[in-house]
Amino acid sequence: MKSSTISVNNKDLPIDQESTSLLDFLIKKKVDINHSCGGFGTCGTCRVFVKNYEILESRESIEQEMADDRGFLPSERLACQNHVIAGLVIEIPS
Ligand code: FES
Repeated sequence: MKSSTISVNNKDLPIDQESTSLLDFLIKKKVDINHSCGGFGTCGTCRVFVKNYEILESRESIEQEMADDRGFLPSERLACQNHVIAGLVIEIPS
């Protein structure tokens, strides 16, 4: 069912277990994503493109600071700084 999945690189992955963050979800799903700082919002390597970013909560200060520094588009988000939300459509930059 679409509402209980997240689309990652055009593949629907079921949300079938608890995850502390979108990064945690992707790691549990064995998606190839970097996370050099271990999820503390300081490295930027977990950056993903979120097609429907409007459904995410606003950036918290850590993520906002990096977004300002690096000139992120609204769709560029840190997987470690966002929650799992059913229906998200994301792409992992190669
Ligand atoms: S893992 Fe480093 S910013 Fe997300």
